[in-house]
Amino acid sequence: MNQYAVWGNPIIQSKSPHIHQLFAQQTERAVMYQAMLGDEKLFEQQLEQFFVKGAKGANITAPFKERAFKLADCYSERCLLAEACNTLVKLEDGRLYADNTDGVGLAADLARLGWLLPRQNILILGAGGAAKGVLYPLLQAEQRITLFNRTHEKAVSLVKKFAKFGVIQTACWEELNDRDRDFDVIINATSLGLQGKSVDLPSSLFKDTKVYDMQYSLESNTPFLNYAHSQGANMLQDGIGMLVGQAAFSFELWEGVLPNIMPIISHLKMTGQ
Ligand code: ATR
Repeated sequence: MNQYAVWGNPIIQSKSPHIHQLFAQQTERAVMYQAMLGDEKLFEQQLEQFFVKGAKGANITAPFKERAFKLADCYSERCLLAEACNTLVKLEDGRLYADNTDGVGLAADLARLGWLLPRQNILILGAGGAAKGVLYPLLQAEQRITLFNRTHEKAVSLVKKFAKFGVIQTACWEELNDRDRDFDVIINATSLGLQGKSVDLPSSLFKDTKVYDMQYSLESNTPFLNYAHSQGANMLQDGIGMLVGQAAFSFELWEGVLPNIMPIISHLKMTGQ
């Protein structure tokens, strides 16, 4: 039986073992997938041991995505651009291959929703690791991206890095205010909701706009989606589909078969777990 795990800290909250178990049932594969608590000091050694014992692959979540990236021997292009890895594959020749499936997971979920039409204007809020991880696949899907970040310089530096792959620009608060209603989809890629803080954005921005939060909550709307709703947005989606999407592309890398994400997303929403 092929062995996999998700590594993070904390990890108790992770839905990945459950999602991969559902994938295994759906695709009739025998896989073992565990949640592993990474140690802040010993993560690299832990991961090495995990692969020495015969594991075929790993998912990596916060706060280890950048550290796992540094451990790998070879990379996908999207992973190199993200400078962070969420999927490791132990290759037959012993090398560790790193990929980042977050962006394709998001794109697959947007496509599922009918929210990924070519040449749309997408506003991405945030310019940290989560934003950087999804820019390349979204640009490849012909999305025209505007980046807004509290620290403007970080958005500027991401635009410089990704400009050669498509249409991408920054906007400051005043420019967003002028461009109200100009966006087809607004995506929250900040860590805001996690801290339970509110966001400072022009209120007109959200009216009649589709809003996607990369964070998720199976019980109720996320704080960011609640905020967007209070500003007039009615088409709201949280990131549970992105979570399932990125997991599905990891599973494909390891097992060679891409699970169908739709029934898994429905199942998680229906059962609330
Ligand atoms: P992650 O890997 O989750 O993206 P990160 O790299 O620390 O985490 O990035 C967090 C993002 O959320 C950044 O864009 C950050 O803005 P800054 O670059 O200005 O720090 C954004 N963010 C976090 N707290 C925020 C807040 N209170 N208001 C606005 N943006 C916030």
